Amino acid sequence: MTEVLPAAEALSRAVELLRAGEVVALPTETVYGLAGDATSGTAAARIFEAKGRPRFNPLIVHVSSMVMADEIAVFDPLSRKLAAAFWPGPLTLVLPLRPGSRVHPLVTADLGTVALRMPRGFASGLIAAFGRPLAAPSANSSGRVSATTAQAVVADLGDRIPLVVDGGATPVGLESTIVKVSDGRILLLRPGGIGADEIEAVAGVPLERGAKGVQAPGMLASHYAPGAAVRTDAASVRDGEALLAFGPRRIAGAERARAVLNLSPAGDLREAAANLFSHLHALDRSGAATIAVEPVPHAGLGEAINDRLARAAAPRDVPAVPE
Ligand code: TXA
Ligand code: MG
Repeated sequence: MTEVLPAAEALSRAVELLRAGEVVALPTETVYGLAGDATSGTAAARIFEAKGRPRFNPLIVHVSSMVMADEIAVFDPLSRKLAAAFWPGPLTLVLPLRPGSRVHPLVTADLGTVALRMPRGFASGLIAAFGRPLAAPSANSSGRVSATTAQAVVADLGDRIPLVVDGGATPVGLESTIVKVSDGRILLLRPGGIGADEIEAVAGVPLERGAKGVQAPGMLASHYAPGAAVRTDAASVRDGEALLAFGPRRIAGAERARAVLNLSPAGDLREAAANLFSHLHALDRSGAATIAVEPVPHAGLGEAINDRLARAAAPRDVPAVPE
């Protein structure tokens, strides 16, 4: 069984496990991550094993300083500007791997690029104490919704990992936004915890969407699926459904829902993002076969929320991009 330690008491035990090539589930400001030494093939293999993840899905590498980031990747001026503006924080940059970098090829799936991010909070202190970058996908089994609490990690992966660090509910609640700069253009590979509008305001160029090909190989259509079916943009609640609500006004039939949770009664997208995965988990546990979801606006963080809802609603095991 896994050990659960509060973040304030977990640092030395976590470092000890990482040195041994083990994996540790830990809080970041976005979602919980399943972390291992990014320079170790054993640690990377353990991550894939614990997640049951398709092997060739590359992992995000987390750093605690720009010095560490520069050792791993080659920054163009625009990527550096975005890092300066948003790090530490929920932005991941896909960059060319620096030749001679110690990041293990299993971590990058040998793509020649690396997804890099500087997190806030416990993760950042741990990376600094460990002295090496950490590879960390979201701490959930492959194809399930990301965990935003230590309890969700324990329920999903508890029998497969030695330590879960409990830092409470993650403040952002959605994975990081992933972008890739190419010839001065910025491709949005995954909407996430920083709105596209915020990035555009710093970059001075619009984000480009719909990049073709295998840009973010983990973006399978049904990547965020709970056990129940999910019906988005619902206009009314059908018999037996649970309801994931948004804002102050309910859709028709809400009173007959088997269970109701509201992402944000005030209609605040930041609050909705923070609640999304935990509410999906909870409604899934209500036993309803289907979760009806009220419409959520698409502006700002709404883009990432709607992206995750669409994936949760997609037919299972259908790739969104050719693999
Ligand atoms: O907020 C987050 O990003 C969380 C926390 C733990 O940092 N991590 C996370 O990791 O969401 P994960 O593995 O669940 O999602 C990472 C995504 C995957 O879709 C993967 O395919 C993509 O990043 N990715 C990783 N390396 C890449 C690369 N070199 N090029 C393109 N996409 C990459
Ligand atoms: Mg994930």
